[in-house]
Amino acid sequence: MVLVELRDVFVRFNGKPVLRGINASFERGVHVVLGRNGAGKTTMLRAIAGLVGFEGDIRIDGRSVRQLRRGELSRLVGYCWQNPYYGFIEATVEEELRAILDILGVEGDWVVAEVMVPLALMGRDPLTLSGGEAKRVSLASILIAGQPVWLLDEPFAYLDWDGVEAVARLIDYGRRRGKTIIITLHEPFYAEIVRPDTYLALSDGSVVSRGRWGELTDETLEKVGLASRGVVCDSLCSGRGS
Ligand SMILES: Nc1ncnc2c1ncn2[C@@H]1O[C@H](COP(=O)(O)OP(=O)(O)O)[C@@H](O)[C@H]1O
Ligand SMILES: [Mg+2]
Repeated sequence: MVLVELRDVFVRFNGKPVLRGINASFERGVHVVLGRNGAGKTTMLRAIAGLVGFEGDIRIDGRSVRQLRRGELSRLVGYCWQNPYYGFIEATVEEELRAILDILGVEGDWVVAEVMVPLALMGRDPLTLSGGEAKRVSLASILIAGQPVWLLDEPFAYLDWDGVEAVARLIDYGRRRGKTIIITLHEPFYAEIVRPDTYLALSDGSVVSRGRWGELTDETLEKVGLASRGVVCDSLCSGRGS
């Protein structure tokens, strides 16, 4: 079932096109959007989340993003921005986790918190967390609302290896729960960890290639200016230990 669909989507900032006619659909499962800095990955997620104006049509579960009210859209789409500190408003991590549940009037999916947030952090002031801790809390504080669509913008940024494993577990959990998960990455290495179903390669606001993850070739990666599959993985994975 197609949950997220983009039809001929354009986004312009100050007249300059940043997305240039994107057509894509995402079914349940895990999808990566690959591209260099400035390719338009974040803008694409923000458009799906209804946070930037666009031309064309974006539909979530058949409903036009433009016509959904903010609250409805927030219950459908969990958008996790890249900067973990942005958006913390509560005095403790636990209150931060509960905040979105009160705002949206939904029950929490506390497995998300269990996977991402060590108990020792629950009483801390979110603004005193390290970058990696903040990233964990930030992801959990949004996805705890149980949205069927997850948009993860560079979810591995700021994380040490434990954090990377926690995000990989979170994505596996989401996959088992039947979520539609769209993940932006500028580093194909992390895609090998999440084992996505499909990829979409973005360059300068256009889709260069898309398909099953297994079909992604080094030629395509080269075309969008990214390292070959496995190159970084070989060196990092071999040093990863048992
Ligand atoms: N709010 C904005 N105003 C003006 N330009 C923007 C804005 N947001 C993004 N851009 C520009 O759009 C282009 C794509 O940005 P972005 O979607 O963040 O790319 P990516 O996430 O792939 O690195 C960049 O050139 C960026 O500077
Ligand atoms: Mg980005």
